[in-house]
Amino acid sequence: MRLFLIGYMGSGKSTVGKGLAKALNLSFIDLDTFIEEKYHKTIPEIFVSDGEEGFRKAEQRALHEVADFENIVVATGGGAPCFFDNMVKIKRSGTSLYLNGSPRILAERLLHSKTERPLIKGKTEEELVAFINETLAKRNHWYKQADIIIDFDHDISINEVVAALRSHKQ
Ligand code: S3P
Repeated sequence: MRLFLIGYMGSGKSTVGKGLAKALNLSFIDLDTFIEEKYHKTIPEIFVSDGEEGFRKAEQRALHEVADFENIVVATGGGAPCFFDNMVKIKRSGTSLYLNGSPRILAERLLHSKTERPLIKGKTEEELVAFINETLAKRNHWYKQADIIIDFDHDISINEVVAALRSHKQ
């Protein structure tokens, strides 16, 4: 069994992924952490040394590697499904869940997040909201190919995600 959590930055993929893995007795993999450990560099460092293009190549390689592991929940990076053949790979390898947070909740979380994210670094609240709306409009093309879409405007519980997964399987 392989579950892939996809969605925008701040949608809670890592938090939900950890909880889901525990609830279903699967291993949890955070794709960004996997990349950082593989290249011995943080994501912001990779953006500085190799640019976004270099990061996307590393991300594709990492995704293809983890997609061969068994019994896993993978929290992907927000852009992962939207580049190269990544969404095809995700769909062929397992079940995909899109955590579709409203722009309002995404902006709120990202403004208060401690994680450094090169794509939104230094943006004011207004710029961030505009950026989210603009990029979501493009990324939704990939995100919406997920097997399961969970729309939310609040903190989602693991029970909600498990229930969505169960009703998808029936
Ligand atoms: C990115 C999202 C980040 C990380 C990188 C690029 C994106 O992951 O992969 O900064 O393009 O949306 P999170 O979604 O975990 O923040």
